Amino acid sequence: MAYETIIAEIEDEVALIRLNRPEARNALNDQLLSELSEAFRDADRNDKVRCIVLTGSEKVFAAGADIKEMSQKGFVDVYDEDLFGEKIETIQRIRKPIIAAVSGYALGGGCELAMMSDFIICAENAKFGQPEINLGVVAGIGGTQRLTRFVGKAKAMDMNLTGRFMDAAEAERSGLVSRVVPTPKLIPEAMAAARKIAEKSAVTVKAVKESVNRAYETTLREGLLFERRTFHSMFATEDQTEGMAAFMEKREPQFRDK
Ligand code: HXC
Repeated sequence: MAYETIIAEIEDEVALIRLNRPEARNALNDQLLSELSEAFRDADRNDKVRCIVLTGSEKVFAAGADIKEMSQKGFVDVYDEDLFGEKIETIQRIRKPIIAAVSGYALGGGCELAMMSDFIICAENAKFGQPEINLGVVAGIGGTQRLTRFVGKAKAMDMNLTGRFMDAAEAERSGLVSRVVPTPKLIPEAMAAARKIAEKSAVTVKAVKESVNRAYETTLREGLLFERRTFHSMFATEDQTEGMAAFMEKREPQFRDK
């Protein structure tokens, strides 16, 4: 499928999706979000893909929703079309792991898109922010919700109320990102992490993703029960038998996703 606002390629069982609207700092317009949700859906269905890496350019991950496009709309327009509802839902339903590799600015919807991935690896030049307040709006796809759960109320309030940016060191300190790497190493590091995940059993990988996400969607008690039952259900897989046998036989496991 040929896209105009993103570049999607597959390398070593990893789908690498690049946001590519340099003239608009990768702003998320309607076309880009349609193409992105399509590319995610394709990667999720494609047997040759085991992990997804989402990135932008070195200077900008994404500068947020497209302000020029949004500025033309009124309340009834955005409410009626449920702006950002369906396409974002599609991204949230992807079952394969998604790593966001963030270099440069991840602002507004860009920061929110990064937070929608399963984890973020960022470059030393990364800057995260929820500057929607400067436009007279609030964040629309997780900037007041996911960010608060990830970095706590104090920093989420600070960022959403003042619109200030968080640099890579603060993002790592606050738990927003899992690793910070030198800027030129970002893609190699994210691809290496993705290839590491691709070596695991795809069944176990899905179960891990579902279990960790439960921590954000349920009470601790329900989450722990979900985790324990998922752990139990892994004993119905051939990959559990293989994984444990390989450990005892001091060899690498040969997972078959069964
Ligand atoms: C539309 C954008 C844009 C955006 C940049 N551009 N961000 N167009 N929507 N979000 C356009 C500019 O208008 C300009 O177009 C060109 O890209 C280059 O932008 P500059 O500002 O000159 O580039 P630079 O100096 O490199 O600064 C980069 C930047 C800055 C720091 C990222 O562009 C910026 O602050 N952008 C806006 C960030 C923001 O407010 N994001 C929140 C959006 S609201 P021309 O035509 O002049 O060359 C949002 C709501 C989320 O995300 C709701 C759910 C998705």
